[in-house]
Amino acid sequence: MSGLFDPLKIRGCTFRNRAWVSPMCQYSAEDGLPNSWHLVQLGKLAVGGAGLVMAEATAVVPTGLISPYDTGIWNDAQVDAWSGIVEFIKEQGAAAGVQLGHAGRKASTSPTWDGTRFVEEADGGWEPVGPSAIGFGPLPSPRALSTEETAAVPGHFAEAAVRADRAGFDVVEIHAAHGYLIHQYLSPLSNLREDRYGGSFDNRVRLLLEVAEAVRQVWPDEKPLFVRVSATDWVERGWDVEETVLAAQLLRERGVDLIDCSSGGAAPDARIPVGPGYQVEFADRVRRDARVATAAVGMITEAEQANEVIAAGRADAVFIARELLRQPNWPLLAASELGVPIDWPLQFRTARPRSVK
Ligand SMILES: Cc1cc2nc3c(=O)[nH]c(=O)nc-3n(C[C@H](O)[C@H](O)[C@H](O)COP(=O)(O)O)c2cc1C
Repeated sequence: MSGLFDPLKIRGCTFRNRAWVSPMCQYSAEDGLPNSWHLVQLGKLAVGGAGLVMAEATAVVPTGLISPYDTGIWNDAQVDAWSGIVEFIKEQGAAAGVQLGHAGRKASTSPTWDGTRFVEEADGGWEPVGPSAIGFGPLPSPRALSTEETAAVPGHFAEAAVRADRAGFDVVEIHAAHGYLIHQYLSPLSNLREDRYGGSFDNRVRLLLEVAEAVRQVWPDEKPLFVRVSATDWVERGWDVEETVLAAQLLRERGVDLIDCSSGGAAPDARIPVGPGYQVEFADRVRRDARVATAAVGMITEAEQANEVIAAGRADAVFIARELLRQPNWPLLAASELGVPIDWPLQFRTARPRSVK
C-alpha cells in the first residue's frame, strides 16, 4: 500500500511524492514568455515540497493561447525563458512539468478576473478556431478548421514537446480537458464534423490519439507523458466516462503513462456536483478499467483525504490547485500532519514543526 509521500517512478523519472501542483493559468505573460512572476509562483511551490510542479496551459501556437497573457512554447525565446524556471524547480527536488495546450474556440478571452470576455482583434485578440462553427456560451463562433488544418495540429504539439525537452522539463501533459481544442474534438457537443475527425467515437478521438502519438515519438523515452481529460461533460449526449475509459486504453497503448482525470468545460449549462474529491471516482474508474496510472484532482485539500486516495489505490497521485495558492507549503505541512519525515528546505529548517524528526 502506498501513501501520499511515497515516491513514484514513471519511466526514468522518480517523483519524490504524489502531491502535485495542478496547472494554473496566471494570465501574467507577454508574447507567451514566462517571467519573474512565473519563476516565483512555480518556484515557491517547488520549495513547498510538491513532487511535481506542472506549469500552466502553455500554447503550442499563438492562436492556441487562451488569453493574450498566457504562456507559450512555440519559439526559442520562450524555451530560454522557461529553462531558468525549470532549473530552479528541479534544484528544489521537484520534477518540472508543462501542460501543452490549444484553446480552440475558447481562445482570445480576457483573464478570469475580468470575467472571461471575448477580446476583439483591435484589442489584441484573434479569430478563434474549432472543430465546428459553434461558439461556447457568449463567445463567438470559431472558424471551423479544415481537415488538413486539423491534421497539422499533432505536429504543432510535437514541435512544442521538442522545445519542452530543450527547456529541461521532465514531464509533458497534453491538455485534452476543460473544453479546449482537443476536448472540443472529443465532445459531440462541439464537434459536428463529417470528415474523419467527427461523428463516431473513433473519429472524435482521432485528433487526441494523433497528438499523443506525435508527442510520444519526439518526447524522450525516459520521460513521462501525461494526458489531462475531462472524464465527463456532465450533460446528456456529451462525452462520458465510458468513452474516457476507452480513450485511456488507446492512449496507454500509444505510450501515455498517466491520465489526469478532471471533468467539465464543454457545456456552459452543465450542472456539476462540486464537492470534496468530486472527481476522484473518475481517476479510480480509469485506473481500474483502462489499467493505466491516474491522477485525481478537484477539491482535494486535506492531508488525510489526499493520503486516503492514494492508499485506497484510487489514483497514483493527486493534483492540487487552489489549496496551493492558499498554502504553497501544503506538502511540507501535510507530511507533518501525517507523521511522515521528509526533508525541509535548509532555509526553512527552523520553522519545521517540533513533532517531526
Ligand atoms: C487560477 C486557476 C488556473 C487554472 N488553470 C488551469 C490550466 O492552465 N490548466 C488546467 O488543466 N486546469 C487549470 N485550472 C484547473 C485546476 O488545475 C484544477 O483542475 C481545478 O482548480 C480543481 O482543483 P482544486 O479544487 O484543487 O482547485 C486552473 C484553476 C485555477 C484556480
